[in-house]
Amino acid sequence: MNEPSNPLFGKNILVTGADGFIGSHLCETLMTHGCRVRALAQYNSFNNWGWLEDIDRGEAMEVRTGDVRDPFFCQALVKDIDIVFHLASLIAIPYSYVAPQTYVETNITGTLNICQAALEAGVARVVHTSTSEVYGTAREVPISEEHPLQPQSPYSASKIGADAMAMSYRHAFALPLTIARPFNTFGPRQSARAVIPTIIAQIAAGARRLKLGDTRPTRDFTYVEDTCAGLVALAACDAALGKAVNIGSNREISIGETAAAIKEIMGSDIEILEQSERLRPETSEVFRLRCDNSLIRELTGFEPRVTLRDGLARTVEWFADPRNLGKYKAGIYNV
Ligand SMILES: NC(=O)c1ccc[n+]([C@@H]2O[C@H](COP(=O)([O-])OP(=O)(O)OC[C@H]3O[C@@H](n4cnc5c(N)ncnc54)[C@H](O)[C@@H]3O)[C@@H](O)[C@H]2O)c1
Repeated sequence: MNEPSNPLFGKNILVTGADGFIGSHLCETLMTHGCRVRALAQYNSFNNWGWLEDIDRGEAMEVRTGDVRDPFFCQALVKDIDIVFHLASLIAIPYSYVAPQTYVETNITGTLNICQAALEAGVARVVHTSTSEVYGTAREVPISEEHPLQPQSPYSASKIGADAMAMSYRHAFALPLTIARPFNTFGPRQSARAVIPTIIAQIAAGARRLKLGDTRPTRDFTYVEDTCAGLVALAACDAALGKAVNIGSNREISIGETAAAIKEIMGSDIEILEQSERLRPETSEVFRLRCDNSLIRELTGFEPRVTLRDGLARTVEWFADPRNLGKYKAGIYNV
């Protein structure tokens, strides 16, 4: 994919949230496209670069540490960058119940800082990452970009605010911006707060009972490689400028059915135990999500390639490696 006809070839790309799950995969994808990647890991005193510690960084990647909440830091961060993928975010819904102010500062103010810095630096493209959580429980399926936004958690509210801030920079200042709106993404390196890693990590760690929240809600799970392909396709698509665009598979499966599929792949007969501490408040739970991905297909030719079963099998295989599983605290409910 390194040929010069590739629109991303040789570009200087900034990925915020590169230390996280999707960001670390996106950095790998971009390097296969022949990009030079500046990867932002959140500053911490251990100088720990999160999942960037585990990937082959090579010479094409430069890691910077810092914080998107600081506008001065963001100004320096985007210098000499062609394309920004903004993924840095607080993403856990349960933690947003206990620390909502931090979500406003990270997700809304952080997005403002990145957009303002990108504008001042004259970057050619910003892809801001939203989430299907902004739609809340589906009023109709599949969910197109026209679906109303329903802030059912402080996380969702902060992402709606972030999206609005980003889009205002398109309207007010002509920032060349696209909002990418992935549905639930899964794969190796996902945080244990998410449901698929929770299920796999508990089974792999030999738990006697599988502790879950509500098993009835449905989700549109997309394998991380497909999500990254969607993000890259949107960055190269002029027709996507000024638009919010879903990335998803147009499949729907309940949490209970997902757990059953994983149990089968792992050859486990573990019993499922619904734990009240893992339940969201009734009106905060998003009961149904299924993506209408026709817009991204139309704009970019995007096609999800990895089936749910293949994606689950690849994720299980990754977790089965004790070096990976050892990084998770499978027995603890991590908000
Ligand atoms: N995982 C999903 O299913 C999913 C679905 C839809 C959208 N998204 C969006 O994709 C993006 C990435 O999500 P993820 O699943 O990889 O989450 P993640 O938690 O693994 O990654 C987010 C990263 O952002 C970094 N970060 C947080 N606060 C920061 C700050 N103040 N400054 C700099 N960096 C900071 C964290 O260190 C973290 O590694 C997020 O914007 C999220 O809203 C995720």
